[in-house]
Amino acid sequence: MSFNVAVDGPAGAGKSTIAKTVAKRLHLIYIDTGAMYRAMALYMLRNGISPDDAGEVVRNCENADIKIRYENGGQVVYLNGENVNSCLRTEDVGNATSVISAIPEVRQKMVEMQRSLASENDCIMDGRDIGTCVLPDAALKIYLTADSSVRAKRRYDELTARGVECDLKKILADIEERDYRDMHREVSPLTMAQDAVLVDTSDMTIDEVTERLVRMCMEKMG
Ligand code: DC
Repeated sequence: MSFNVAVDGPAGAGKSTIAKTVAKRLHLIYIDTGAMYRAMALYMLRNGISPDDAGEVVRNCENADIKIRYENGGQVVYLNGENVNSCLRTEDVGNATSVISAIPEVRQKMVEMQRSLASENDCIMDGRDIGTCVLPDAALKIYLTADSSVRAKRRYDELTARGVECDLKKILADIEERDYRDMHREVSPLTMAQDAVLVDTSDMTIDEVTERLVRMCMEKMG
């Protein structure tokens, strides 16, 4: 049986940065489930389909062929044969993703793919519903969070460092709106699994959080 770690939490809590490092340290693969939902949203945006039109999104879902491969130690997302990794991390795609990921048919398709990847690989998988829905039997479940103002500032610093002009207030408003949608949707809302360990990263450095997770994983691995 494969060894699976589930990491859930709101946008900007540091899930992907930390999960990626933990994966490298412990020779697990890192599965970024947000990227799969983002690829689906990208398909809709590129084809002029409004994320708010659930019927149209569902009708077009089958046309978006999303494949995940692991190349040079990293996850690559292919959308109808094209490597779309560099197109997924924009604010527009992020906001559209939060809307389409509330659609049950979209989730069903993604969850199937995620379970199949986890059954074949020792992995650390991050998302919103990994501990509660995708991998209820994961060896370890972490709920990673931080104050919304801290998460907004981190995102602001990250964008500014890349030379992208942005507005902190707008980023905070977007994060809070996305949190609300992710936590209040009907299907698999973001919530902490009962058997998850809560890690609040508001006052922690990336290294501190990483060390803590590595230690927890190693205890479970024996
Ligand atoms: O983790 P992220 O920022 O890449 O996620 C983008 C959106 O996708 C987020 O608003 C919620 C959604 N998502 C989800 O509903 N379930 C997951 N397992 C992963 C992401």
